[in-house]
Amino acid sequence: MPFSIGVIGLGRMAQAILLPLIDSGYFNQKEVLAVVGQAKTVEDLQDQLPKGLTLLSSQDRSSDQVWTTPIKLLAIKPQQLDSLRIDTSQRESSDFNEKPLLISILAGVTLKKLQTLFPDHCCVRVVPNTPSIVGAGLSGLSWGEGISKKQQSLVESIFRPISEVFALPEEQLDAFLALTSSGPAYVALIAEALADGAVATGLPRQLANYLAHRTLAGSAMLLKEKEMHPGQLKDLVTSPAGTTIAALRHLEMAGIRSALIEAVVLAAEKSRELS
Ligand SMILES: NC(=O)c1ccc[n+]([C@@H]2O[C@H](COP(=O)([O-])OP(=O)(O)OC[C@H]3O[C@@H](n4cnc5c(N)ncnc54)[C@H](OP(=O)(O)O)[C@@H]3O)[C@@H](O)[C@H]2O)c1
Repeated sequence: MPFSIGVIGLGRMAQAILLPLIDSGYFNQKEVLAVVGQAKTVEDLQDQLPKGLTLLSSQDRSSDQVWTTPIKLLAIKPQQLDSLRIDTSQRESSDFNEKPLLISILAGVTLKKLQTLFPDHCCVRVVPNTPSIVGAGLSGLSWGEGISKKQQSLVESIFRPISEVFALPEEQLDAFLALTSSGPAYVALIAEALADGAVATGLPRQLANYLAHRTLAGSAMLLKEKEMHPGQLKDLVTSPAGTTIAALRHLEMAGIRSALIEAVVLAAEKSRELS
């Protein structure tokens, strides 16, 4: 069976994207050729991946076959891009009457750079986020030049099983990344701090961690399912002269809102700077 998709860098994020597609039968494992950096990674991953999937290290010469696949998922670290051995000289085995497709998830690598590196491809830049690992992700994407409607649908169908998909102008991807890709770190920090507070007032650690996670997840679900404005939810749990307003006064004095606003702005600025 010829390879339908080549994965360049089968790390955490590429596995989060690819494995649900194999589980659901969207791709047969025999259609997948994946490449990683080190031979040791091939050994480490072999037992964890579906049998029949071809996994090679980039030092293995036959890994160059990845450049013949009609769809490529580029998922190495951005700083590894310059040392990547790109070989698009071989004829592409495309199912489509168009250029092969290159899907890049590399943070900060622009469409302009992708199109320069892969001139024989239609490129798309995707910003996924870590909750994709549990099928609750968000993906922002921008289409490169010449990409057909058919290819756009294909890309969307690859990311839909793990995330909600938003097609955006490329200049909005930095803001998207600052909120959604960096966001899980902000939420993790808040979860940890809330649990610390509960431990400080006497709850056991494990219970405090669990309750902090559930409070965040439950509140997020309530906002989403009831389509509530955050202010509405805040007012709902804030009774006159009560406990919540005492805590909120402290959070406002500590500048939590501006700290979060500036965090997102700084992350977007950094992303722009890196690209
Ligand atoms: N994690 C996130 O939340 C997130 C969110 C948005 C975007 N992204 C983007 O996703 C990309 C991957 O992130 P990740 O967290 O999945 O990283 P990761 O787990 O470190 O995966 C990187 C993969 O690339 C492989 N690799 C390195 N050099 C290679 C080469 N020359 N040829 C082929 N494969 C090579 C690595 O193999 P070895 O381990 O053997 O070196 C590894 O499998 C990054 O560009 C990042 O910007 C990640």
